[in-house]
Amino acid sequence: MFELAPSILSADFTRLAEEICAVKAGGAKILHVDVMDGHFVPNITIGLPVVESIRKFTDLTIDTHLMIETPNRYAAKFVEAGADMVSVHVEADVHLQKTLCAIREAGGQAGIAINPATSLTSLEEGLPFADYVVLMSVNPGFGGQKFIHTSIDKLRRLRRMIDERDLPTKIEIDGGVDSKNIAKVIESGAEIVVAGSAVFGGGEPTEAVKTLIEAGTVWV
Ligand code: DX5
Ligand code: ZN
Repeated sequence: MFELAPSILSADFTRLAEEICAVKAGGAKILHVDVMDGHFVPNITIGLPVVESIRKFTDLTIDTHLMIETPNRYAAKFVEAGADMVSVHVEADVHLQKTLCAIREAGGQAGIAINPATSLTSLEEGLPFADYVVLMSVNPGFGGQKFIHTSIDKLRRLRRMIDERDLPTKIEIDGGVDSKNIAKVIESGAEIVVAGSAVFGGGEPTEAVKTLIEAGTVWV
């Protein structure tokens, strides 16, 4: 089994409620919310008030991906705002273990996000404290980028690393996934698949979610 997590970054924000309903109708169970601060990444998106509003509107699992500096200042607040899952970047947090514990103590699932050029070795000590890893297959900051092909090998190595340690940590892949490569990422070990432009880019999010789930299910 895998879960598709549509990223609202590529949605029409003036019709966010409709867009959420559309992906739910297609079979999505998780909503990926990209939080960017203009420092860790060269883009600014949305924050706590929007997560609060989405929480009031939907029962979908809310997966917040924090692309922000000093995430330990905000991580637990996202759980309080209604997020079910909160990931922070290993590159942004010198107190990662503390932040992961704070997310869990607040009642959320804690995730470690990792950039394409960051080695998997940086995950080793944090893994036992994480419920999932967000393996970035593009450099974070923008939707619609091309999948970095070396991510497949990295994904396989991460899968091995988690399995060898006998950990329940899930793998989420984020960036550049479409109906052509989704089967490959699932075959390589991803359990949660984020898709932004592939879901919202064509104007038919319900159909796009169905197509992606079908394309990915081939390997399950
Ligand atoms: C990139 C974000 C991704 C993005 C994915 O910084 O973290 O979640 O929305 O979008 P696509 O699927 O278009 O690459
Ligand atoms: Zn993301």
